[in-house]
Amino acid sequence: MNEVTRLLKAHRSIRKFTDQPVSDEIIDEIVTCGQAAATSSNIQAVTVIRVRKTETREQLAALAGNQEYVVSAGAFLVFCADVARPRFACEMQGGRFAQGMTEQFLIATVDVALTAQNCVVAAESLGLGICYIGGIRNHPQAVADLLQLPEDVYPVFGLCLGFSAQSPQTKPRLPLSVVLQEEYYPAHQNQQAIEAYDQQMRDYYRSRTGGKKASSWSQEMRALTGKESRPQLREFLSGRGFSMR
Ligand SMILES: Cc1cc2nc3c(=O)[nH]c(=O)nc-3n(C[C@H](O)[C@H](O)[C@H](O)COP(=O)(O)O)c2cc1C
Repeated sequence: MNEVTRLLKAHRSIRKFTDQPVSDEIIDEIVTCGQAAATSSNIQAVTVIRVRKTETREQLAALAGNQEYVVSAGAFLVFCADVARPRFACEMQGGRFAQGMTEQFLIATVDVALTAQNCVVAAESLGLGICYIGGIRNHPQAVADLLQLPEDVYPVFGLCLGFSAQSPQTKPRLPLSVVLQEEYYPAHQNQQAIEAYDQQMRDYYRSRTGGKKASSWSQEMRALTGKESRPQLREFLSGRGFSMR
């Protein structure tokens, strides 16, 4: 255990922010830390767009399902998977870009996640709170239009950053014994451990919502994975050049 591991384990999403602005210096430092993350073949397939205009933030908040903290957070960043820049470099060298490879989609998306999580850890270490906003994929084309994203670039998620005006509990995670395995994938899911976690999550939601919500993890997974989720993404991605061949 050290300061870093303690910080990592103390993470919780923040959805209420004070009015205190986040300076350019802080954002520069955070995104520089993001850039230091490992990146597939040094492709650095990430562009981070800081959205300052209130009007754009309001539109993004609405598109994300009326998530008002997109507007109230001290800063809002959109993390884009970007193969337009490596494409430019390839063509600059007289190459022919192999558009639409599934591998490119995967490495750009992984690069975004690694970069963003480095930003998150840096932000939290500087005393800021954060909340990822996957909701911007509800209407990906509208978001791409608002941010003037070119072909070969897609918005993966947003990130609210700011000084926290709340202090929520950390959300319990699955037992380590469920997630960390030795040598092979287990022959059976560990139902007993999942049920124990379900109980923990019910208690967590009950205490966090004053009894209003008391669903378990497996109930949440039933709701989440028992329905089609953002089916518009496939066509959207294909239209941007990510045809997954
Ligand atoms: C890629 C991604 C997208 C997310 N999108 C949203 C979102 O749109 N709105 C929101 O309130 N939280 C969002 N979250 C936050 C998760 O709900 C949260 O991380 C999860 O419930 C675990 O809680 P914790 O972060 O407090 O530990 C997102 C998290 C990730 C990693």
